[in-house]
Amino acid sequence: MKELERIKEVAIDAAREAGTYALNRMGNLVEISHKGGFTNLVTDVDKKCEKGIIDRIKKEFPSHSILAEESGEEVTGGPFRWIVDPLDGTTNYAHAFPVFCVSIGVVSGGSVKVAVVYDPSRDELFTAEEGKGAFLNGRPINVSDMEKVRDSLLATGFAYNIEGKLANIKYFKVMMEKAQAVRRPGSAALDLCYVACGRFDGFWEFDLNPWDTAAGQLIVKEAGGTVALLNGKPFDIHEKEIVATNGKIHKEMLTLLGS
Ligand code: IPD
Ligand code: CA
Ligand code: CA
Repeated sequence: MKELERIKEVAIDAAREAGTYALNRMGNLVEISHKGGFTNLVTDVDKKCEKGIIDRIKKEFPSHSILAEESGEEVTGGPFRWIVDPLDGTTNYAHAFPVFCVSIGVVSGGSVKVAVVYDPSRDELFTAEEGKGAFLNGRPINVSDMEKVRDSLLATGFAYNIEGKLANIKYFKVMMEKAQAVRRPGSAALDLCYVACGRFDGFWEFDLNPWDTAAGQLIVKEAGGTVALLNGKPFDIHEKEIVATNGKIHKEMLTLLGS
């Protein structure tokens, strides 16, 4: 079996296992703590899911590096780097609002090669491999063909810090006035997957980390969408901001976002 296929298989297994565990524990948390500021939560489930995923990666691929949200970076010097968000949408999760997922992207040679996002509440598995398309539960997915923002359903998210929240309020207002509607679901990785499968026509956010975007951005691109920075330049997972669209409304979105 080719290496990337094996990596994808392990990522899917690990994401399903973590997601299923999280779903079973929803509403039954042992510990909720704050990571600086009263709005940025972490639960014992985030940590347990992350440990399970990391243990699995280390067992199967001891030479791979890992960047995981709760435990940080472990560099081995190997050719692959796993980027793990064990639970994207922790605030939703802590309130038993069932919009959260597990997100895993695997980087090699400067780009994300394999992407897996698992939503256990809907049993939806989004996957992509660079150059090979994007899939939802094994079926190919494509971005929407909406041509105008006025007909579009958009999504965004708000940073944990108050300055970041206020900075995006201004864009939220602009988009609310121009788009058919704007949603704020609370899981950036899922928001990206929803652009990929045409449920959303566009998504933007300003204060994200590589574990929020690594998998989702590849899934959008492989579904035929466009992913960029606010100034229109190609997106990089180490940048904080992202604009992801079906491609057709991309220019209009960027203009509305002031670039
Ligand atoms: C958060 C979610 C949320 C986004 C935040 C992220 P977390 O991730 O993706 O939608 O608005 O910026 O930090 O903390 O739940 O893993
Ligand atoms: Ca996250
Ligand atoms: Ca998280």
